[in-house]
Amino acid sequence: MSHFGQVARVPGDPILGLIDAYRSDSNPHKVDLGVGVYKDPQGNTPILRSVKIAERHLLESETTKSYIGGHGDPLFTQHLARLVFGADSSLLNANRAGATQTPGGTGALRLAGEFIHRCLPGRSIWLSDPTWPIHETLFAAAGLKVQHYPYVEADNRLVFDAMLAALQLIPHGDVVLLHACCHNPSGFDLNPQQWRQVLAVVRERNLLPLIDFAYQGFAEGLEADAWAVRLFAAELPDVLVTSSCSKNFGLYRERTGALLVSSATADKLVDVRSQLAAIARNLWSTPPAHGAAVVAQILADDSLQRLWQEEVEAMRMRIAELRQGLLTALQPYGLAERFAHIGQQRGMFSYTGLNPEQVKRLRDEHSIYMVGTGRANVAGMDSQHLDYLAAAIAKVSG
Ligand SMILES: Cc1ncc(COP(=O)(O)O)c(C=O)c1O
Repeated sequence: MSHFGQVARVPGDPILGLIDAYRSDSNPHKVDLGVGVYKDPQGNTPILRSVKIAERHLLESETTKSYIGGHGDPLFTQHLARLVFGADSSLLNANRAGATQTPGGTGALRLAGEFIHRCLPGRSIWLSDPTWPIHETLFAAAGLKVQHYPYVEADNRLVFDAMLAALQLIPHGDVVLLHACCHNPSGFDLNPQQWRQVLAVVRERNLLPLIDFAYQGFAEGLEADAWAVRLFAAELPDVLVTSSCSKNFGLYRERTGALLVSSATADKLVDVRSQLAAIARNLWSTPPAHGAAVVAQILADDSLQRLWQEEVEAMRMRIAELRQGLLTALQPYGLAERFAHIGQQRGMFSYTGLNPEQVKRLRDEHSIYMVGTGRANVAGMDSQHLDYLAAAIAKVSG
């Protein structure tokens, strides 16, 4: 009898399923606002110029393909830690913070989940409702109990008071996941005053913050976006931060990221890092080298770093302009006010406020693809689409 006879089929990732549906659509006006990748005006997800230059240099200078260590490429982790915690971070100077290289931000989240499960048993992890769907499945797969605090309500508003009230009821010592910026899927971020209020509750209840930092540079800029991460790391004894180079370096498939830890003492950091290396050994042994080497090249070279910063800024500005452009295109239909939140949200994603029925009509009648919850990837728009998009939105929301 076949061993696999008992294996049931499970549905594929709904977002990735959208890619197939989009590809097989023959409508020349089709628009893909589904999967979360940045696109240029030609609809491509380009390789950054700074990355190409670094890759050319690597091709010439690389001398080995031997394994890199359990914590990854030291040049990469040192530079990435400065990018996240700040060039003159006192935590880094005091050896109270460090980075472990991981396969993308997802790898960093999984490593964090496994670490919590193994070293801090019995603690739940609290996620925003809604959150990136992989958070839900990934932490459950790591053996953690997953719970939720409110974040965006059905009327498509950030419900900060409800969030804060829920955080105040979280059992002491539990883990709370926060999105550093560009909240996925909603695009709604906390303002500095709200961050300080969250910090006060986290401190008061002795919660462990796990800050997901997947979009550094896409909200207000590379430095400004790190503000909350740096505030929490400066004010609290222990913080976990997951960083992804997928979006801001455009290195998606190279699986480049890191789990950063700040700890009360340099000595305790060594203990924590010993656990991380041991856990990573069972997950992926050692991380992939190429993407990290590219990032290290860029961050270690002043002129390459400047070029990269300009490229990130150009992506950020383009997304902000597309948000405003869509609002302008919605104006003739009297809808600019109703969708004003699209201009206030930040990063690649927008909770448009369109309901599943409207999303379905956009897809069936206009070949516009977005996630059923009404999440649109703003970076998938193009200035030439905006009138078409606005007309379609007006039709389905009439
Ligand atoms: C909120 C959030 N966290 C983490 C990630 C992880 O990205 P990656 O594993 O591709 O680096 C993503 C990617 O979409 C994300 O949106």
